[in-house]
This record gives sequence, structure tokens and C-alpha cells, in this order.
Amino acid sequence: MRPTSRPAPIIVDTLQRPLRDLRISVTDRCNLRCTYCMPREVFGKDFVFLPRAELLSFEEIERLARLFLPLGVQKIRLSGGEPLLRHGVERLIERLAKLQCTDGQPVDIAMTTNGVLLVRKAQALKDAGLSRLTVSLDGLSQATFQRMSDSAAAVGTVLDGIAAAQAVGLTPLKVNTVVKRGVNEHEILPLVEHFRHSGIILRFIEFMDVGTTNGWRMDDVVTAQDIVERINHQHPLRPIDANYSGEVAKRWALADGSGELGVIASVTRAFCHECSRVRLSTDGKLYTCLFASAGVDLRDALRRDTGNEALSRLIAETWQGRSDRYSQMRHAATERPVRKIEMSYIGG
Ligand code: GTP
Ligand code: 5AD
Ligand code: SF4
Ligand code: SF4
Repeated sequence: MRPTSRPAPIIVDTLQRPLRDLRISVTDRCNLRCTYCMPREVFGKDFVFLPRAELLSFEEIERLARLFLPLGVQKIRLSGGEPLLRHGVERLIERLAKLQCTDGQPVDIAMTTNGVLLVRKAQALKDAGLSRLTVSLDGLSQATFQRMSDSAAAVGTVLDGIAAAQAVGLTPLKVNTVVKRGVNEHEILPLVEHFRHSGIILRFIEFMDVGTTNGWRMDDVVTAQDIVERINHQHPLRPIDANYSGEVAKRWALADGSGELGVIASVTRAFCHECSRVRLSTDGKLYTCLFASAGVDLRDALRRDTGNEALSRLIAETWQGRSDRYSQMRHAATERPVRKIEMSYIGG
């Protein structure tokens, strides 16, 4: 991971935020149906996913990544959907791992996966040059895992995947847990107890109102403060400094030295003022906010033979015109946006 100091921004948006972090969704498909992300009532067997020709090819993704780096991007996160469902994703990692940032450092390449296919894939990801990995896991008991992911997959498969990733050195390894009131909040302490002493960084995330299909209600959110208090009661915590400015997780150390935790308060303590993230959807649209309703069609520009200079200008101008801060405005907003984009398509 990169140190706290960062080079001067190359471009900034209208709120003076630099562009640092590119998140690429490599598929809109997933082998789970987490209720907060791809509820089965919407993403059922009749749901039409993007046909192959609509997806950005690896060549197209690499070409775009090369244009983002000179604008200040230092980290590329591959997500989805479930990125391990994209055939040959390790070949894409291989291509991206060769790229350099403006400071001459190799680009930090991370991935967020649900871990179901990880036992098989961990070594190939490591060999391809993936820098680090985050695995989503919302509970340790099969009953909770099944309820959150609405699937018959075995939680043991994900735990084995996490062990495999650790064994091949895909570290620092993080585990992300979305907390939903009344559904998996009872798993908070067991998860802390399971992962302490393991070197794995467990992070709890407030359930967000992303997209339009997950039936979000504020009542279902267990706040970051509540999460920290519950853990602190059993396992005293000590705050630690952020790794870098703009880090979404507030870091905590277990005071007995047994590990580190993170809490992501995307609802109750919005971090828009430092948001340096841009998202590239599976079909090549560029979104400047997780809660956006429209993106800039880079795929269309690519496929109409636009030159690199014009593409780069389009990306830079999109960032420079950006004023998004949805999470900070959420509670003030009197009207909901017309149609927000689903997270499985835009990339978590
Ligand atoms: P590190 O590089 O390891 O610090 O990763 P990260 O924390 O930037 O990325 P990760 O994908 O692990 O983020 C964790 C979760 O935070 C996501 O799954 C989202 O739920 C939430 N999150 C990340 N970025 C944003 C954002 O820009 N806006 C909002 N509202 N939530 C975000
Ligand atoms: N709220 C919070 N986090 C979410 N994710 C997906 N949907 C939501 C939501 N509604 C995050 C989870 C998951 C990652 C892929 O995206 O962290 O691990
Ligand atoms: Fe799939 Fe991740 Fe969404 Fe769950 S949160 S449905 S694992 S993309
Ligand atoms: Fe960034 Fe939008 Fe999330 Fe705010 S709500 S942190 S602007 S992605």
C-alpha cells in the first residue's frame, strides 16, 4: 500500500479533489444475490445481463487505464459484479500490473471479490501481479451467510478462499462486511473474534442506499458508532491514523495488539469531501459518483476511433466538471434522484 504522502494533483474537480482511484467493473454478473446489492426479485432468472459484445475488452480496458494514469490515478480496483466470473481476468491483471503511475511507481492493483471462486484462482491472481485483495463476507454462520447472499453457496468455500489468498501472499488481505440491522448484526463480534490474530483487516460497512432496488431504509442501518461501541465493549479499541487522505475506512486497532479493524460510515459520516474515485462500468461508461444516474460513454468514443489525446481530454474534462457529493447531500435532499445506477454494474 502507498504511504500517506502523495504527489501534487494533476487535475482537480470543482471541489478541488484530485483523481487517484479508478474502479473498473469487469462484469455485471454475480454468483451470489446479496439482498443489498442484487436482490433476486430484480436479478432473477429473467434478468438480462449485458451481452459479451457490450463489455469492454481487455485491450480497451488497458488502453483506457493508460490514459487515466497520467491524470493522477495510483490505484486500480477491479470489481463487478463478481470479477472472478470474467473469463481470463488474470490476463487483464497481467496487462495492468505492467503500468506505472506518474511517480514511476507501479500501479496498485486491487480486487474486490465474494471469494466463492478464490480457492481455484488465488495463485493465478498472485502470479498475474495483483497487489492485494478484499473479500466480501457478511457472516460466519451458514444461516446468516445464506440469508445475506441469498444463495446456497457454502460459507466454508469463502473461508477456504480467504485462507488460500493468504497462503499465496495476497496481502494485506481485507474482509468487507455490510451490516444490516436484524439480519447479520449478531455476527459482528464473532467476525472480530474469528479474524483477530490473523493479520486480516476486517471492515464493517454501513448498509447504503445505492441503486434503486435494495429497499434501503435508514432503520436498517447499523451506524458505525454503534458498531464501534459494540466491539469496544468486548475488545477495547484505539483509533489509528488513516493510511492516506481520502481513505474511506476509519481505522481502529484492537488495544491488545491482536489486529486492526475498519469501519466505513458511508451513510452517517460521508466522505465525499475527499472522494478521489472514478468508476468505469462494465460497458465502458465513466461515472464520477457511486450514486450517479448518468455516465460518459467512453466505449462509444473508443469504438469510433477517437485518438488518445481526445479521449484523455474527455476524461480530464469529465473530472474537472465534477461536483458530486451525494452522500453529504443525502439527508438534505428533498427529492430522490430519478434513477441511480446499480452497484453490480458500476462497480463497488
Ligand atoms: P482500500 O484501497 O483498501 O482502502 O480500499 P477501499 O476502501 O477504497 O475500497 P473498497 O472497495 O474496499 O471500499 C469498501 C466499501 O466502501 C465499498 O464496498 C463501498 O461499500 C464503500 N465505498 C467505497 N467507495 C465509496 C464511495 O466512493 N462512496 C461511497 N458512498 N461508498 C464507497
Ligand atoms: N451498501 C454497502 N455496501 C455495499 N456493497 C454493495 N452494495 C452495498 C450496499 N448497498 C459493497 C459491499 C460488497 C462490495 C462489492 O460492495 O462491500 O462487499
Ligand atoms: Fe455479488 Fe458482491 Fe453484489 Fe453480493 S455484493 S451480489 S457478491 S456483487
Ligand atoms: Fe464519492 Fe459520490 Fe461516494 Fe460521495 S457519494 S464519496 S462523491 S462516490
